Amino acid sequence: MASAVANLSNRQANDTRFNKEAAAWDSRPGIHIASKHACETILAQLSNSKPGKPISELEVLEIGCGTGVLSFLLAPHVKRIVAVDAAEGMIDVLKQKLAKPDAPKNIVPLALLIENPEDPALPPVDEKKPDGPRLKFDLITSHLVLHHIPDLITVLQTMHACLASGGRVMLTDFEDFGPEAHRFHAKSRMEGVCRDGIAARAMEASMLQAGFGEVEVVPKWTMCKTVERFEGEFGENGMGGEGQGVKMDFPFVLCYGVKEAKHALP
Ligand SMILES: C[S@@+](CC[C@H](N)C(=O)[O-])C[C@H]1O[C@@H](n2cnc3c(N)ncnc32)[C@H](O)[C@@H]1O
Repeated sequence: MASAVANLSNRQANDTRFNKEAAAWDSRPGIHIASKHACETILAQLSNSKPGKPISELEVLEIGCGTGVLSFLLAPHVKRIVAVDAAEGMIDVLKQKLAKPDAPKNIVPLALLIENPEDPALPPVDEKKPDGPRLKFDLITSHLVLHHIPDLITVLQTMHACLASGGRVMLTDFEDFGPEAHRFHAKSRMEGVCRDGIAARAMEASMLQAGFGEVEVVPKWTMCKTVERFEGEFGENGMGGEGQGVKMDFPFVLCYGVKEAKHALP
């Protein structure tokens, strides 16, 4: 019960923060740099892993898509991306971007906190049976979201249940490499932050517990970010001005896991 209350209050903090930040989200260069790295990492992982469906046929679910920066980068490579975010403000901005003539046509925006893999808001397996079972995905991505999630195991179990057999998760976030990882966020941007990045070994254990196989959580790239020299230096808006802050490198991990096919007992 206490944890349900904590989850709810964190969700409300997240929604309030990201609804407020949505309109200016795409004006932050760091968002685009991080998403470009995430996209390159995901495409490389897809190309290097066992042959399965061609990349161009993949049904993708992105959880915590924000304004769709990563979805836009991935869209030309895959069949379709269902892009969900719990904050309606983020999805409203994504819808405005998708209304432009040159926007990709294979992104489906959804304001949703996925807790149920059979949620009626998700696309059906068969368009002719709109009330039938919901689509199961070949790939789930989630970028810079895990550090906002209080109960990782529950969300990982939901992701597992949203995957088709043989489907994969490729989740990217900054790494908890020690106490200095706390500096990733300015003091005024800590609202809704549950952890200072992803601790690789603990995440592997959580993914195994949620049912994933072939689990691997490894650093894939480093991003340079201007951070506060002392807590609160950047003030209310959390953005460093001229002469403020110091540059610091942050490693990012790819959390990889597969929903393995169930083999019938002989
Ligand atoms: C730091 S932002 C990252 C947005 C986007 N991935 C990007 O990199 O631009 C985190 C996003 O995750 C969303 N979020 C957090 N927890 C979520 C959940 N359980 N389900 C869906 N979205 C969630 C927030 O609303 C927010 O838009």
